[in-house]
Amino acid sequence: MQKRRYAEDAMRTVFQSFGYQEIQTPTFETLELFTAKSGEGIIDELYSFTDKGGRELALRPELTAPVMRFYVEKLQMEAKPLKLFYFGNCFRYDRPQKGRYREFWQAGCELVGTDTPESYAELISLAYAVLRKTGLKDITINIGNLTILSSIFTKLNLSKDQQQDLIPLIDKAQFDDVEKMLQQFGVPQEDTKKFLDILQTTDIKKLSSFVQHDAQAQQEIDLLTTTINLLPLFNVKNYCLKMSIVRGLDYYKGIVFEIDAPNLGAEKQLCGGGAYELIPLFGGRETPTAGFAIGFDRTLLALETEKYAFPSSTLTTYVIPVNEAAIEQSFTIVQQLRSKNIATDIDLLRRGIRKALKYASSINAKTAIIVGPQELKQDAVMLRDMKSGKQELVKLSTLPKKFQ
Ligand code: HAM
Repeated sequence: MQKRRYAEDAMRTVFQSFGYQEIQTPTFETLELFTAKSGEGIIDELYSFTDKGGRELALRPELTAPVMRFYVEKLQMEAKPLKLFYFGNCFRYDRPQKGRYREFWQAGCELVGTDTPESYAELISLAYAVLRKTGLKDITINIGNLTILSSIFTKLNLSKDQQQDLIPLIDKAQFDDVEKMLQQFGVPQEDTKKFLDILQTTDIKKLSSFVQHDAQAQQEIDLLTTTINLLPLFNVKNYCLKMSIVRGLDYYKGIVFEIDAPNLGAEKQLCGGGAYELIPLFGGRETPTAGFAIGFDRTLLALETEKYAFPSSTLTTYVIPVNEAAIEQSFTIVQQLRSKNIATDIDLLRRGIRKALKYASSINAKTAIIVGPQELKQDAVMLRDMKSGKQELVKLSTLPKKFQ
């Protein structure tokens, strides 16, 4: 928990430094909240149940839909853009494996009321900054666009069903199978080649030639280009275009992005997000929305894989009463230090000094305060630096100052 709290604190600090405010929603919601966009099919991937009042409920699989529900109910009148972040547990009926759990934690955010390229650049840079702040080094950002991808599907004359069959193959980067499937669908060889090239290119200029027919897609290419060009301003590194990003959830449209920790293997995706549309579905007034969520458990796995040296817990000081007579005075000292928020522990086992000092070093105490009758006669205690072993006599009245 110490490692987790450390990473969580680091993440919170960054969200707040970008002007985001924290939001919390309930662990369970109506099942309908999650089936509204994705249909009944999603129930297989959820923990859902009927409560004693006969209501169909679900443990939340993610927080975007709950936050948007909350927005529509309570926050629509707030000034825009609205920047909300969250930290919460999620539940998915997944097959558990390393990095994939049935209960896991997400740190994420939603940005409501803006769709300028600078807001998307800031959003991507926020995800990057949050992950970097935890201490992670090796991460890569991939940026795609679902409007452009769907425009290409239209250009290739693919039906909705054909698209559904193709998407998982694109997601898994099984391009040979994509090629075979396109052949089966009767897509001309030349178009297939061009499409495969676009799925694998990092050159944004190549996109235009395929979607010249579609003004909306052209607009999205401009937006994507400007967004990507703004990223260096935010000191974001390691990003590239990846048109094969399809995202699993059904509410995305426009720009999408993912951040991976390549050294994690199969479950390497740490973060996913992008622009999406849910507010009108929940009965709210249309306004642009975008966001992302970081898999918190995976972030910790990635830090451990990078052998990140988490700061170890330290106790400021450990008080050792030398004998029974010194116990009361020792507790007075403890109370005084604790009231000043100095992390202080005390020997509760009436151990001898040697054993008590050994224990103090085992719990990483920086100093020990030895309270003995000789020193107390002079209204003083012995303060010991646990690392160097150096000791000094300190007057009780000046003791708290030693820790400031
Ligand atoms: P997602 O890609 O489904 O997006 O999940 C975000 C992250 O949660 C993933 O990249 C992964 O790190 C982590 N994750 C997902 N499933 C599991 C699991 N079973 N065990 C451990 N970690 C997992 C969303 O949830 C969207 N709501 C993100 C978003 C916010 N889009 C817009 N706003």
